[in-house]
Amino acid sequence: MGIHFNAEHRVFHLQGPNTSYVIQLNKNGVPMHAYWGRKVSDAPWEGMLDFQERASFSPNPFPEDRTVSFDTLPQEYPAYGTSDFRHPAYQIQLEDGSTITELAYVEHRIVNGKPKLKGLPSTYAEKEEEAQTLELVLQDEKTGLRVLLAYSVFAEHDAIVRSVKLSNKGESALRLLRVLSGSVDFRHDRFHFLQLSGAWARERDVYRRQVVPGIQSVESRRGSSSHQQNPFVALVSPNANENHGEAYGFSLVYSGSFVAQAEVDQFRTTRVSVGINPFDFEWLLEAGEEFQTPELVMVYSCEGLGEMSRTYHRLYRSRLCRGAHRDRTRPVLVNNWEATYFQFNADKIENIAKVGQELGIELFVLDDGWFGHRDNDDSSLGDWKVDYRKLPGGLADLASRVNRLDMQFGLWFEPEMVSPDSDLYRTHPDWCLHVEGRRRTEARQQLILDLSRDDVCDYLIESVSSVLRSAPITYVKWDMNRNMTEIGSALLPPQRQRETAHRYMLGLYRVLETITSEFPDVLFESCSGGGGRFDPGMLYYMPQTWTSDNTDAVSRLRIQYGTSMVYPVSAMGAHVSAVPNHQVNRMTSLKTRGDVAMSGNFGYELDLTQMSDEEKAIVKDQVRQYKDIRHLVQFGDFYRLRSPFEGNDTSWMMVAADRSEAFAVYIRVLAEPNAPLDWLKFKGLDASARYRADGSDAIYGGDQLMYAGLPIPRLHGDYQSHVWHFVRI
Ligand code: GLA
Repeated sequence: MGIHFNAEHRVFHLQGPNTSYVIQLNKNGVPMHAYWGRKVSDAPWEGMLDFQERASFSPNPFPEDRTVSFDTLPQEYPAYGTSDFRHPAYQIQLEDGSTITELAYVEHRIVNGKPKLKGLPSTYAEKEEEAQTLELVLQDEKTGLRVLLAYSVFAEHDAIVRSVKLSNKGESALRLLRVLSGSVDFRHDRFHFLQLSGAWARERDVYRRQVVPGIQSVESRRGSSSHQQNPFVALVSPNANENHGEAYGFSLVYSGSFVAQAEVDQFRTTRVSVGINPFDFEWLLEAGEEFQTPELVMVYSCEGLGEMSRTYHRLYRSRLCRGAHRDRTRPVLVNNWEATYFQFNADKIENIAKVGQELGIELFVLDDGWFGHRDNDDSSLGDWKVDYRKLPGGLADLASRVNRLDMQFGLWFEPEMVSPDSDLYRTHPDWCLHVEGRRRTEARQQLILDLSRDDVCDYLIESVSSVLRSAPITYVKWDMNRNMTEIGSALLPPQRQRETAHRYMLGLYRVLETITSEFPDVLFESCSGGGGRFDPGMLYYMPQTWTSDNTDAVSRLRIQYGTSMVYPVSAMGAHVSAVPNHQVNRMTSLKTRGDVAMSGNFGYELDLTQMSDEEKAIVKDQVRQYKDIRHLVQFGDFYRLRSPFEGNDTSWMMVAADRSEAFAVYIRVLAEPNAPLDWLKFKGLDASARYRADGSDAIYGGDQLMYAGLPIPRLHGDYQSHVWHFVRI
């Protein structure tokens, strides 16, 4: 790992364990993108930026050298208006109304470690020797606009992590119209564009298509990263699969509206641009002020999508997630949402917890409906005061009843929201996002608090903290159940209204930083109607996310598989729920539901008191089994074996980092008559080792399991599953 500067050729060479990323300054000091891919040795990089002379439709900013047209050169942080016609990384309007700026090299620093980003989530280095950072400083002579391009590499992770800081060193205000986190120019278009798209209850389906001239893009304009598009795209070689081929991943550490696009131009080069969505965004940068973009985490793999994902998993699990729970195994929980919805009382909750305790469950989570007078979703968001009708002894009493069962107690909040029917809204009607004189559009009968305001954020911190102080609460589910409309703030002046959505994110991040620091032992799980904000920004504060409101085992195959493209299994909440399933009405066996949910932070979300003795015995066994393998789920390497997007079956496995143990899951959706014998090949094992399967006498070679595989047992009926647990002997 390291960053080297070749002063003679003005080349910066960033090296990860297996990756190189090369930047070269052209003769005018503009940073050019020379290379990103498999690691190469240090060389002068001569001739990497030589380009042929083009026709007059590629303008030449320096007439004496007709090979220079920014329209044909691969750049690091491109502008628009000075000869490049592709989408720029930034655009700034000056006081005279013009939008032309030119950034050129001023100086650079190479520092050990990785400086923090002010006010924003980011990956980090715990020790200086874990990472190195290049800070490349550029300037526009005429305005005093300074731009710091930061690039970090890690000793143990093959990621190039980028962000941009703009400083106004001039005298006049600058209006930022577009400030992306990163832009990468590839020299060809032999790529497929991979994205994770969906909707509520069917998040993160994997889509893959060939890139074509023009723009292919995903974006959110919802004020959150969204169910519909995840802030992640990859460019992969057309032949790439799980094990082979090149994959370039782009993952944005941000929870608000974003854009991620690939533009193929006239010369069949491909430009990837990722960052805050410029749509409906502007930022006024007064003299002396700074603007920091979110971080972009770029991962290159020459061993297919599987290795790309594992790089993201390891980095996000160990150097994005933080806090006491990062390296601790997570508790098995039971949540009352699908068990009771809003209709519960303290006795009912205690009864569910009691059965949970008998079955080995470690944490009880009280979901929506414990506060205000919330008997349905019409009211009370914002009034975080216990409802004594349901819980006469209050939260402390209920928590201690649960604690007496030797179980932890967790609680649901939706802090960013306010119901029109709430004391909070009646007292502070201007505390929600709104535009004066316009309708306040409701969704799920609720409005969004204006977190661009400090006073609202302070209120939020205090109201959530005082509940957390009032009872022994060791887990919080932080929900957010709608997207933004009428995005405006009562406190911002007219020229700053379009800053509201990003200021909201900065406010939210401050709230999360404050609360998670004040309660370091609480395990936080983020949620947004399931996986509507499953993004790296939230993972920085909360090490796990409720993957989807859809708990159906079959639907979950696609959801969890798609999510695993970027996010570690340790980040995914997965629960066994009742059948017929509440979202899709499907009947699946308790075994299959358990086998699917075990590939995540495992729990139950059903009324345990309604279960038969036979079912309870199965649950008890599942909980025991999960406790046996959860270190693999939460800290192991994840290998996808069969894709639910390609066939009738799905399989994946989790392998200990030292390959001493593995847990593999196989699910076949529809039964096939007279089916052929099918062998499943495992991955990631130690080829030279021997493994015992499922505590039985069966012993297999690691090579045998990977190269020959094992026959999949005959499964009768639809939605059947099988699991294997291998332990090295
Ligand atoms: C959202 C969450 C659910 C549940 C409900 C409660 O939909 O995703 O898990 O907490 O809110 O209202």
